[in-house]
Amino acid sequence: MIRCEALTKWYGGFLALDQLDLELQPGDLFGFIGPNGAGKTTTMKILATLLTPTSGRALVGGHDVVDSPDAVRRLVGYMPDFFGVYREMRVVEYLAFFAAAYRVPSGERRQVVQDLLTLVELTHKADELVGSLSRGMQQRLGLARALVHDPQVLILDEPASGLDPRARVEVREILKELQSMGKTIILSSHILPELADICNRVGIVSQGRLRAFGSIEDVAATVAPHRVRAQLAAEDSPEAAAALLREALAAPVEYEASSSSLLVRPEAGQRVRCEEVAAALVGGGFGLRGLRSETPSLEEIFLRLTEDAASGDEA
Ligand SMILES: Nc1ncnc2c1ncn2[C@@H]1O[C@H](COP(=O)(O)OP(=O)(O)O)[C@@H](O)[C@H]1O
Ligand SMILES: [Mg+2]
Repeated sequence: MIRCEALTKWYGGFLALDQLDLELQPGDLFGFIGPNGAGKTTTMKILATLLTPTSGRALVGGHDVVDSPDAVRRLVGYMPDFFGVYREMRVVEYLAFFAAAYRVPSGERRQVVQDLLTLVELTHKADELVGSLSRGMQQRLGLARALVHDPQVLILDEPASGLDPRARVEVREILKELQSMGKTIILSSHILPELADICNRVGIVSQGRLRAFGSIEDVAATVAPHRVRAQLAAEDSPEAAAALLREALAAPVEYEASSSSLLVRPEAGQRVRCEEVAAALVGGGFGLRGLRSETPSLEEIFLRLTEDAASGDEA
């Protein structure tokens, strides 16, 4: 449904997007994650035909954003990270205005607006002024506005920013519903945990490059694999056990002498199973009291990815 091929954007002498490749299928709810300045908004604006790439291509539903912008616009609903709302308009007028702008036939507009208000749960605010809505409600109204022409693809730039937890949950529920309707949805955020549990695909971008792409499990396993924590018998030397494991597994091992515990921390791309750790320790004559696998936090995965990217570029 969406395909970017070596997408590149220079702003004057500044490289904001560097050969970005991306492919999304219908029904994908994609989390586009990266620190501020990574290139998320640039990518989304290109997909929404608001910006042209310097080189490379972007296709939506098979249409090139540069060659067929009208066809792309029919398929895409875009919610910018910052949108000026028409504060003096009533909620219904606001949506009717955008329905007209998107050429929804006049006989259908009323129904379209009502359906959208139901979807984003703003029916009770239909006659209020836009400016009187809370931030969360304005965000939902922005989402409704992006949906007036029933687009197949939704591109939402930082839709959760500035929302309180309750409003976030509401936005999530709407997105899940849209996904179940088969729409392709791209959401950006600079906070990985914010998106990880609703998205079936995530992509980590930093300095204009896509550093990782896939399911959150795949991305996590490549960047920061599971660790194994082992508890030794009190009389055993954790230092000696750590040395043995480093040798046997060729992986970094930390130990804490006071608690007789060991932590095997595989490098990115490496995999160490609990059974291997157990076999090596028992084979070496150590007493094993406990063993468990630990998953790194999403925050840590994100930091690792973006740090690696930064240090890689300095080198
Ligand atoms: N119009 C512009 N002119 C010059 N630089 C820009 C412009 N828009 C964005 N940039 C720069 O390009 C980089 C990527 O920006 P952006 O796509 O907005 O990142 P993100 O949305 O991930 O925060 C940033 O360093 C930003 O300062
Ligand atoms: Mg942005």
